Amino acid sequence: MSISDNTVSEIKSRANIIDVIGRVIPIKKAGNNYKGVCPFHNEKTPSFVVSEQKQIFTCFGCGATGDVIEFVQRYYNLNFSQAIERLASEYGIELKSSDVNSGRRNLLYEINIEAAKFWYKSFHQNSNKGYYYMQERKIELATLKTFGIGYADESWDSLYRFLIQKGYDAKILLELGLISESKGKYYDKFRNRVMFPIINTRGKIIGFGGRAIGNAEPKYLNSPENAIFHKKSNLYALNVTKQDVGKEGYAILVEGYMDVISLWQAGIKNVSASLGTALTENQAQLLSRYTKNVILSYDSDNAGRSAALRGLDILYKEGLNAKVLHVDDGKDPDEFIKKHGKEAFLRLVQDAMPHVDYKIDAAKRKADVYTEGGRVKFFRDVIEILKGLSPVEADIYIKKISRDMKISEGALRAELSGTVRPAAAKPRKEEVKPTAEASMLEKNLLKLIITDMSYYPKIAPYTNIFKDSAAKILAAAKEIHEKGGGMSGIVPFLDYLEDNEIALLREIDQNIPVEGMEEKIFTDCIKEIEIGDLRKREEELNMMLTLTSEEENASQIEEIMKEMTEIQKMIRGLEGLQ
Ligand code: UTP
Ligand code: MN
Repeated sequence: MSISDNTVSEIKSRANIIDVIGRVIPIKKAGNNYKGVCPFHNEKTPSFVVSEQKQIFTCFGCGATGDVIEFVQRYYNLNFSQAIERLASEYGIELKSSDVNSGRRNLLYEINIEAAKFWYKSFHQNSNKGYYYMQERKIELATLKTFGIGYADESWDSLYRFLIQKGYDAKILLELGLISESKGKYYDKFRNRVMFPIINTRGKIIGFGGRAIGNAEPKYLNSPENAIFHKKSNLYALNVTKQDVGKEGYAILVEGYMDVISLWQAGIKNVSASLGTALTENQAQLLSRYTKNVILSYDSDNAGRSAALRGLDILYKEGLNAKVLHVDDGKDPDEFIKKHGKEAFLRLVQDAMPHVDYKIDAAKRKADVYTEGGRVKFFRDVIEILKGLSPVEADIYIKKISRDMKISEGALRAELSGTVRPAAAKPRKEEVKPTAEASMLEKNLLKLIITDMSYYPKIAPYTNIFKDSAAKILAAAKEIHEKGGGMSGIVPFLDYLEDNEIALLREIDQNIPVEGMEEKIFTDCIKEIEIGDLRKREEELNMMLTLTSEEENASQIEEIMKEMTEIQKMIRGLEGLQ
């Protein structure tokens, strides 16, 4: 797909960067430029600058920079041509058919519609296991129809044959993850599963989740990421429920497809779920178009609780008000509402714990507050929580905690003010801007090493994630470490590095805050690396599945499926979902 230079320059001249950015983040005129709080990293004092004259943005905090197209790509998480499409449609610029591959995207949507219709028919026309299964789970006909539930039958290739006969190319079906291939033969990927179409808020079917009937693994098989399916940027059923979310003034986020459907059927219609992964920033942004208030209703086990904690932070960062509830009977909202009904669930909603209370409660659960050591630990955690709040909010909670925990307000205030760090010095104008670049992951890990050399051996096993300049800096750290240099700061590095790497290191040193949070940042980074590795393996397994013959290698397939299930479990575990 190629987009002509003409189109790009027309978009750039019509879409004023000040308008495009000003619509989504508040920016204020400051001298010749505009200034605001950077949307690409967490900051309180504005270091995000937009130049109308040059039509570019730059963040002096995180180094993000680019033109209007790059802003749209980053802010909405789009690729280049999607960003072009978006800007073109906003500014009424017509794209030539050669410009954007919208034709191809439409074809993908069309095929998904055909697949959904095919499965829907199987579900409703004749007696079938899918329908019986959903009946057993007490889902009524009207609900099943509203969510477009279908049934993928047990045959090897009924969908495949149906779609080929309609004239679609097997390659595209492979890309959509509807079929798999081995030795020139094609097989349906979803077999003997209840099918949940996943539909975006514009009403397009972007993918599917398939629930195994019985104990087949994995329990849910989802469409793979592809040109139209992005798990991280969509929420399940919001196409059906967004009006109710608006009407009720809040959304209930649950973990599973079945939870959504079950609550909806019981009359709680302002509900949605993420697509089998931890809640993401994009999903929070999507939700914030319809409401600023969210109630997380995750499972009450450890995984559900830590998912809730992470979800809270993400929602808070996107400016949403969040609360948490856990059902007190039954494994999940689906079971609870079937047992106790709508009113009982609404009482839980009424009593849902506000964001900060929930975090404090979690800290209390974690620490044994009846012992001296436990109390100390609890207060340390509480101070961390308070640090993230505005002074007004912090004040309210200081009063509350001092009352509940019988500790003087003064002590809490002293602790809190003692931990307030002076704002990091802004880089001076004349300073060289680093030309070398690094990812946030690399930057965080390097900052840990600069701060405390003893992190070097802990990070060394993950050398392979470091690329280019970051790899050079790490190699320097290795030498410094081997020479027994326990010195912190960037001085020991100066001998080993080129100017642009030193500039990068300076930038990291000034702008990446780790102080007091070293261990947390370290474990978060390692988690991110591990999840990345697992995702890579998942992709490999997906490839293998596509290439393995189902008839000849049934046992191998079983192995792959097993490993895939394991991996998905591990990913969900690491992301804090069960
Ligand atoms: P759950 O196992 O809690 O789902 O997983 P559920 O909706 O309660 O399932 P039922 O009630 O047993 O049918 C929560 C979500 O995690 C994803 C799915 O999106 C599911 O809805 N998931 C779960 C997967 O993607 N794959 C799996 O194997 C399991
Ligand atoms: Mn369930």
